[in-house]
Amino acid sequence: MGDSSYLLGTHTEELERLRFQHELWLPAARAAWQRAGLAPGLRVLDVGAGPGFAAMDLARIVGPTGRVLGLELSDAYVAAGQAMARSDQLPQLELRQHHLLRDPWPAEGFDLAWCRWVAMFLPDLDPLITGLEHSLRLGGQLVLHEYVHWDSFGLHPGGRAIARFGQACQRSFREAGGDPDVNRRLPALLAARGWRIEALQPLPVAGDSHSMAGQWMQRFVEVYGARLQELALWNSGDAADASEEIAAAAADPGSFWVGPTLLEVRATRLAS
Ligand SMILES: C[S@@+](CC[C@H](N)C(=O)[O-])C[C@H]1O[C@@H](n2cnc3c(N)ncnc32)[C@H](O)[C@@H]1O
Repeated sequence: MGDSSYLLGTHTEELERLRFQHELWLPAARAAWQRAGLAPGLRVLDVGAGPGFAAMDLARIVGPTGRVLGLELSDAYVAAGQAMARSDQLPQLELRQHHLLRDPWPAEGFDLAWCRWVAMFLPDLDPLITGLEHSLRLGGQLVLHEYVHWDSFGLHPGGRAIARFGQACQRSFREAGGDPDVNRRLPALLAARGWRIEALQPLPVAGDSHSMAGQWMQRFVEVYGARLQELALWNSGDAADASEEIAAAAADPGSFWVGPTLLEVRATRLAS
């Protein structure tokens, strides 16, 4: 499966955007992993690992007696992640090219599965849950960080072009077969298949233009705006309006960004 099948692309700007995004969200990820009992020696599956930024942090925590396997569609991201794992001397980390909906999942009895910003791109969630049931041991934990309320994305006050951008993003995700608010559905799907839902926790984010959160959202408008133009969901006039709003917000100490709200879901695999 070629890289082009991933909606956001795998070009260098997107890889660097993922690195920055991971830095912003790392404290929330670490807290979630801790709540799930992540510890040295555990075996962890990173589902849709991208270039492996979270997988590298997971590998540092499980240490040389543990194992982290990252499953990822893009060859380019797998190659980048394997190179980072080698240069950081993390032999416990493996990234593997894998299509989550088509390839057989590894049956290694993983203790923990981590899935962030991936289910939202999948047109079918059943193979994801079946794969997780195949790969996790009984009693193993799943931690999902996926969006639950994309409509909260905005630049305030008055970011009208940014509001249109948010709607265009959601439309692009839906037209590609995904669901921007996929975590509205995943807890019910897991519970119906006998998983125990342990915790549900919303993870909101906001900040002014100079904060990390604000920088993250501005960068997303730039990088994904170009893709939305290719998809004919955004045009150069929209992009110019958005740039004006972004410049005005940077000079206005009362202006702020709000991100799409994430939901942390923690669930335990019970006998199916
Ligand atoms: C927004 S990135 C998130 C990457 C990583 N989970 C993180 O938190 O930084 C989404 C990733 O999901 C991967 N992905 C999307 N659909 C996939 C599929 N069907 N099989 C495997 N990976 C997939 C993409 O290639 C991309 O690397």
